[in-house]
Amino acid sequence: MTYGHFDDKKCEYVITRPDTPVPWINYLGCEAYFGIISNTAGGYSFYRDARLRRLTRYRYNNVPFDLGGRYIYLRDNADGSLWSPSWQPTRHEAEDYSCRHGMGYSIIGSTYRRIKAETLYFVPLGENLEIWRLKITNLRRKTVRLSVFSCIEFCLWDAQDDATNFQRNFSTGEIEVEHGVIYHKTEYRERRNHFAYFACSEKLAGYDTQREAFVGAYRSWERPAAVEKGKSFNSHAHGWAPIGSHHVRLTLQPGETREITFLLGYHENPHDRKFVPPGSQTINKESVRPTIARYLQSAEVNNAFETLGQYWHRLLSLFQAITPDKHTNRMVNIWNAYQCMATFNMSRSASFYESGIGRGLGFRDSNQDLLGFVHMIPERARERILDLAATQLDTGGAYHQYQPLTKRGNNDIGGNFNDDPLWLILGVAAYLKETGDWGILDEPVPYDNLAGSEHPLYEHLERSLQYTLDRLGPHALPLIGRADWNDCLNLNCFSDTPGQSFQTTTNKEGKVAESVFIGGMFVLAATELAAIATRHGRRESARKYTAAAATMRATVSTHGWDGEWFLRAYDDYGRKIGSKECTEGKIFIEPQGFCILSGIGLDDGRAETALDSVQRMLATPHGIMLQQPAYSQYYLHLGEISSYPPGYKENAGIFCHNNPWVIIAETLVGNGDRAFDYYLRINPSARSKIIERHRCEPYVYAQMIAGKDAPTHGEAKNSWLTGTAAWNYVAITQWILGIRPTYDGLMVAPVVPTAWKGFNVTRMWQGVQYEISVARRGKGNTVRLVVDGRQIEGNVIPKPAAGIHRVSVKATLE
Ligand code: BGC
Ligand code: NOJ
Repeated sequence: MTYGHFDDKKCEYVITRPDTPVPWINYLGCEAYFGIISNTAGGYSFYRDARLRRLTRYRYNNVPFDLGGRYIYLRDNADGSLWSPSWQPTRHEAEDYSCRHGMGYSIIGSTYRRIKAETLYFVPLGENLEIWRLKITNLRRKTVRLSVFSCIEFCLWDAQDDATNFQRNFSTGEIEVEHGVIYHKTEYRERRNHFAYFACSEKLAGYDTQREAFVGAYRSWERPAAVEKGKSFNSHAHGWAPIGSHHVRLTLQPGETREITFLLGYHENPHDRKFVPPGSQTINKESVRPTIARYLQSAEVNNAFETLGQYWHRLLSLFQAITPDKHTNRMVNIWNAYQCMATFNMSRSASFYESGIGRGLGFRDSNQDLLGFVHMIPERARERILDLAATQLDTGGAYHQYQPLTKRGNNDIGGNFNDDPLWLILGVAAYLKETGDWGILDEPVPYDNLAGSEHPLYEHLERSLQYTLDRLGPHALPLIGRADWNDCLNLNCFSDTPGQSFQTTTNKEGKVAESVFIGGMFVLAATELAAIATRHGRRESARKYTAAAATMRATVSTHGWDGEWFLRAYDDYGRKIGSKECTEGKIFIEPQGFCILSGIGLDDGRAETALDSVQRMLATPHGIMLQQPAYSQYYLHLGEISSYPPGYKENAGIFCHNNPWVIIAETLVGNGDRAFDYYLRINPSARSKIIERHRCEPYVYAQMIAGKDAPTHGEAKNSWLTGTAAWNYVAITQWILGIRPTYDGLMVAPVVPTAWKGFNVTRMWQGVQYEISVARRGKGNTVRLVVDGRQIEGNVIPKPAAGIHRVSVKATLE
């Protein structure tokens, strides 16, 4: 069975059957206004924050799984037949169905009884609105008279409240309709200064704003009463469920095509100018009218769409590779970069698996997302770094998460994840290497957003490191706190109460349980900070951090090595976790990846030994599992990890996020064949040949693929929002292809498969375009560089003289 194919020229994935195994989605918008859209037009929109400013309503875990979205209904007025060109919610027998998910847009449509209709959905750059451009063509030999109905259901802004507080919500909904534009203004009368609007380019035959009128009592979206009748009710919502629906009547001659534009947008007014006339309850629409008028014109829509195309073309052109492998090319050049934008914008907040309510921007997550995004729009990476640092506490610790709208730390999600602060150092190091913007280190940034607590960003980094040093355990390894990268290894939790949150419940002070993973991470972070300190004129600090890294390296080597691999942790009783002494959970992936990444074991053969153990014990054809053997039951002293059935999520699932750590580690020991083999095992495009097993979108990474203990081994889940995007982008571009920004120049250090004859990369870095062509002469990884015709020493291309914007590099691998 196939569900579609890649169209690499257009940077699109084309879905050709609507009934994909799970909804295959895309993101609209990449700045402030966002939408999630499935292949059948399901999904919702929000402004900045999927929890606090949700424009349209969406019910998760529905039946069918994906129901509710940006729907259009067509009705043949001659015989009353009705259908929806996006297949849902009517699920008619569509001819020629297709959904093209592209860079920031989706085009969804089908043909039904010779009426072809497709809708382009996108968000124009710089605007807080989305456009739906519907094109309808009459392929019949006769004139057809159609009714077109649009439909969205408004969310009452706070998605959490919207889904729970019905005693209030059924009475608050308010709408205005003016010149055919539907304005949703619930709570605008009181403290809100924002509203939504839904407009249509055509003269209306009618409209509806009350859900029960449009749908009809005891009916569903499948066959709304208004559509069945071919006539809107011109209903006004007073409480209950405000919706927006336009009705347009069209007559199409044979062969004729018509376009209709719908706009859904978000707008804010200054608090003192909310109403016109002042003192009334009527929305002041003065500043929004021009925007609406503008985008209802077809030429403006075309322009905006073209501009979006150019924008993405530029972003993608910053790193382009031509390798012998088409899956690599496609992911690197298009989809992996595109997914990095989505994870940068969403962190783990809103997808079809993240409800937009539970989590905002994760501290750890967002710092990692930067790694794959920073080369695209460094200014936004800069802003993100400063926002993250501003949520840091003066202890150096971090809120695990903050709300994108308020930029304030969110206590509900917990804290004391002891790895969190160290990620800030890695994020900033990546930013500095990419941009050379050392000024960021002097930016004054508050702690916990408290005015008056500002200190230079550099000091935040120092406190991040100190946070670990202040929390060392019995072996002088870092205390784990609530958890480290593995949110589910909860060694201080001891939760025995059903439903208790593993993220916020702690039952132990936690002075014993230690993390070898954080030990490895500390070595990397301290080494990075030492390098930063040296260049920032802090030689004394640099020495201190280098020494701290050396001490921790020695500690990990002594207390974190199990003989054939790195240990994972010590539990609250001081017993080993991830050791040959354990019967379950003998070996974990995280410390193998991260200890080696930080250089531990590279000089004494331990790295190779650990990686061989990974291959022997953790690798499957579908990727590398998180740990083995899976925990067979719930263990009080281990927490959430043992709550999952074997093979899923952190309990021995293939957690794709940390596969690239092992991939990078393989490149560090020079094993390009194995690194690339692992890379391909989880590459979504490469997995499209087993799509019936994989099931999730073949164009983006999923968080997890079921491990070998699961009955559904190989099945992916939780697509889109995962650190896998950034880390795989780093693994393939910087470590396998080996094009790596450093403080002194762009490094060329490929560790590619021995069978590759070569590859080419174009990389824009600090205003210079590098055209790099790599040719293999021998089987090794030794690089010789010829830069603009001159042979140079080493593998770092020196920064060119001012004024030079193109550099040509010929590299040979021997
Ligand atoms: C998941 C983790 C996730 C955590 C965040 C857990 O249930 O298994 O992957 O990081 O929740 O809250
Ligand atoms: C997903 C979370 O978003 C991430 O922060 C965490 O590291 C992994 N799960 C592993 O638990």
